[in-house]
Amino acid sequence: MNTRATFAVHEPATGALVDMAPNHTAQDATQAIERAHAAWPAWRSRTAGERAKLLRAWHDLILAHREPIAVIMSREAGKVMSESRGEVDYGAAFVEWFAEEARRTYGDVIPSPSPDRRLFALRQSVGVVAAITPWNFPLAMITRKVAPALAAGCPVIIKPATETPLTALYLERLAHEAGIPADVYQTLTTTANAELGAVFLSDARVRKVSFTGSTAVGKQLVAQSAQHLTKLSLELGGNAPILVFEDADIDAAVRGTVAAKFRHNGQTCVCVNRVYVHESVHEAFIDKFTAAVQQIRSGNPSDDTVQVGPLISERALHKVEGLVADAVAGGARIALGGVATGGQYYAPTVLVDVRSDMRIAKEEVFGPVAPIYAFRTEAEAIALANDTSYGLAAYLYSSNQARCWRVAEALEYGMVGINESLMATVVAPFGGIKESGIGREGSRYGMDAYLEMKYVCLGGLGWGD
Ligand code: SIN
Repeated sequence: MNTRATFAVHEPATGALVDMAPNHTAQDATQAIERAHAAWPAWRSRTAGERAKLLRAWHDLILAHREPIAVIMSREAGKVMSESRGEVDYGAAFVEWFAEEARRTYGDVIPSPSPDRRLFALRQSVGVVAAITPWNFPLAMITRKVAPALAAGCPVIIKPATETPLTALYLERLAHEAGIPADVYQTLTTTANAELGAVFLSDARVRKVSFTGSTAVGKQLVAQSAQHLTKLSLELGGNAPILVFEDADIDAAVRGTVAAKFRHNGQTCVCVNRVYVHESVHEAFIDKFTAAVQQIRSGNPSDDTVQVGPLISERALHKVEGLVADAVAGGARIALGGVATGGQYYAPTVLVDVRSDMRIAKEEVFGPVAPIYAFRTEAEAIALANDTSYGLAAYLYSSNQARCWRVAEALEYGMVGINESLMATVVAPFGGIKESGIGREGSRYGMDAYLEMKYVCLGGLGWGD
């Protein structure tokens, strides 16, 4: 009989109980590390082709269960159904991509400086990986870490967010059904997040921790990683600006800003946080943008016609309310919304006359509020955009190609969208600079985080005589 404690998972949309999830402890984490560490030699010894086949089978099962996974994700994360289905596709694509990349973990033959030696750079799996993943992408942030780790030959332990354990458990079941060994792929759902994080970083057998979440927690992990110099990949917070220049296609800029602001109700790290519009098109932009935001249908995410759902928690709701109240107290004006609408819902909101010294300009909003600022010159726009400790994603709209390149190069961000605001794809490197993180995920660079380079010097060849 399984006597493990459980915890309840509730719908952010209604508060209804979705299901119970196992509540793993620090002791369970240590046992999981033991199992993963013991499984490492056999897993890394399989050929890349064998690992690729298992990943491909997992990918196919994920897509075959697209609808039930999307329903669970939508219920536990409050993500609207169209975005939940999109996330299943997006997440599965990482598995497919890294199944292919598994066969391409090439090393190097280095031209030798002496005739009796040959020099090689080999790439080998890092070892046991702990993946700590967020609630806003309950599936894709798991596959973006786990697929390259498994492809590289690393066993993984996944600690999903407390809010969204059910999607993670579904994925685990499919991974095992696909043939990925149980000790190579383990999921620890829990409410004891800090305790499990501490176990991962205090156990020298965990060689790598990959984390997506807040900058504050990321900094704690960096401090804890000092004990064993555990390798870290960190995908942290953002404060994304969008710059709309006077030569931009304003309709395209409005569409792009709406898409990048209100994706998952403003709750992604790459959501637009600050909207800077040239003063000459400022009023026209506000009119069109406000009209577009007014059309957004908010409601229960299970309703297929709904475009934005609830916020993830009451705490998130209070944060959004606090940021808007602070801005309004400082002189900002609410052009649309600006109110909580019951439960964990907040109306899609447009704030104007916002200034850079307000809290909303400095903190990640993580909610459906678009603060609009005016600028006069290109140099001022760049300076305002870069005036943050974050550096994840930035966007700009202009029809002047020279300006597009100039500004993209001047923006201190890991990712820049030019006349495009939904740029994430499995084939491109995702990640930030400054306090937005360390490392890149996805793309051909995504395997690097799970591979060590080993230099091998083969001497005594005696061909120099
Ligand atoms: C994130 O917000 O952390 C991920 C967003 C994405 O992959 O598009």
